[in-house]
Amino acid sequence: MLRAMMRTDTTEHNELAIATAKRRTFAIISHPDAGKTTLTEKLLLYSGLIRTAGMVRGRKGGKTAASDWMGMEQERGISITASAMQFPYKEAIINLLDTPGHQDFSEDTYRTLTAADSAIMVIDAAKGVEAQTRKLFAVCRLRRIPVLTLVNKMDLPGRPPLDLMTEVEQALAIHASAVNWPIGSGSDFAGIVTRADNRVALFSKTAHGGATKVDVQTMALEDLAKSGRVSPEVMAQVQHDLELLTIAGNPLSHEQFLGGEVTPVFFASALTNFGVESFLDAFVQLAPAPGARLADTDDGGEQSIDPIEQPFSAYVFKLQANMNPKHRDSTAFLRVCSGRFERDMVVKHHRLGRDVRLSRPHSLVAQERSTVEEAFPGDIIGIINPGVFAIGDTISVTGGFRFKPLPQFQPEIFARIRPTDVGKRKSFDKGMEQMAQEGTVQIMRSLNDLESLVAAVGRLQFDVLQYRLRHEYRVETVLDTLPFTCSAWLEGDPETFKRPSASMIVKDQRGRVVVLFGDHLMKTIARDRNPDHVLKDMG
Ligand code: G4P
Repeated sequence: MLRAMMRTDTTEHNELAIATAKRRTFAIISHPDAGKTTLTEKLLLYSGLIRTAGMVRGRKGGKTAASDWMGMEQERGISITASAMQFPYKEAIINLLDTPGHQDFSEDTYRTLTAADSAIMVIDAAKGVEAQTRKLFAVCRLRRIPVLTLVNKMDLPGRPPLDLMTEVEQALAIHASAVNWPIGSGSDFAGIVTRADNRVALFSKTAHGGATKVDVQTMALEDLAKSGRVSPEVMAQVQHDLELLTIAGNPLSHEQFLGGEVTPVFFASALTNFGVESFLDAFVQLAPAPGARLADTDDGGEQSIDPIEQPFSAYVFKLQANMNPKHRDSTAFLRVCSGRFERDMVVKHHRLGRDVRLSRPHSLVAQERSTVEEAFPGDIIGIINPGVFAIGDTISVTGGFRFKPLPQFQPEIFARIRPTDVGKRKSFDKGMEQMAQEGTVQIMRSLNDLESLVAAVGRLQFDVLQYRLRHEYRVETVLDTLPFTCSAWLEGDPETFKRPSASMIVKDQRGRVVVLFGDHLMKTIARDRNPDHVLKDMG
């Protein structure tokens, strides 16, 4: 009996280890239009889940595409939550987290990154490192997660590759190491050379554009000139660049990559599929499987939670309210950190200090829910949340610890909000408290507690706030935007802080002092004027 039990234990342990080692949980970070959606689609193409690309791209527009994804899920068995998509890619199981772009940019975008083990940074070859990429990269840096860089749109006229490498290094303060190098660019973009073995891959455009896999011809670099496939000018440029990289470039150390100190750089054209497959293969090789996460223990210590050795544990990184108007409940998205999750599990809810049953786990596409039976470290599950989960909550089989709190992000827009009807004050206050707890917006107060204001990283958060107050709490509100565009947490005595004229000092939800500035210049001036104070961008 005992032997049988031990055998089951070992088998389960092995299964868990294998399932964990296969998982790659990551997000794509980029500025809108750099090619995130196109690359996502190519992941599906090269994983064999779709045979022709082109159906997903309407997704940018929002709603239409949700149904595309949904059809795809039904057809192909891809599992999509509102927050992540899961599918096999060759030997790996991909969990691709959704980090909405532009109009949808909000704290959720940042928080979702806390659930990733690595990131792919997509850069437009003509535009280089853009604003939103910088912001998202800062979160990766804070969490020290490894980032791979894909310079996209090499089939269009762009900036010289060496310039782009320098820009990545300077704008993001990270070493860049070219894994492959483009052969030609714009209409001359013919292929890539892998620096480690000097193998060349030349691509031929297919009749279907980038809808189907591209044809590849490989050869040694020394045979390229003889092949007649590239002009002498392009050949000379490639040789010149490669020599320069050998002398002055950064070597790629896997350890430094995992520590977030160096980013491997790849060149490709996602639209035409040039260089896409070799990039994805390298990504799966280089990117880490789910690793240990640090937690605070109840006895005041710290513990590293190993994904395989520890029984099931997870934390809430995102809440989404009322996705189905017929239900008032919300969905809590959890990232599995350790152990095997099975439906109907009873787990300890750390903050509430009680047991909860995870009886309705689901993945979710549009309004449809499908039940999840089991999940492994790195996976994302959605749980119906009847008000028990808040952002950052830890659940686990053993109890006794909670994962480190999620970082808070520097808000960039601020407003005063009040109910139009003063008689609705009570509902308004209740709604605001709930929204702040769910992380819809941040609430800040003046140092004397008399005034309060709302803060967010994206306009969408304010729209969601007003919408939810109207629909869930029946309160119409007026929102007056304030003339501040950035903020920082202040360390040091606020009394002695010399603040610039267009600024304001407030407290955040955790009671920490925050300075709001009219613009970035004001912030720089304040830093210079107050050498004894520290202004922190993220906390
Ligand atoms: P995003 O999700 O990062 O916002 O970008 P998305 O993939 O939607 O790409 C933005 C635009 O750039 C799309 O064109 C897309 O076809 C194009 N694109 C992406 N990768 C490449 C590439 O490697 N080369 C070229 N030439 N174009 C690329 P669009 O005209 O805005 O959309 P659509 O009408 O093509 O769907």
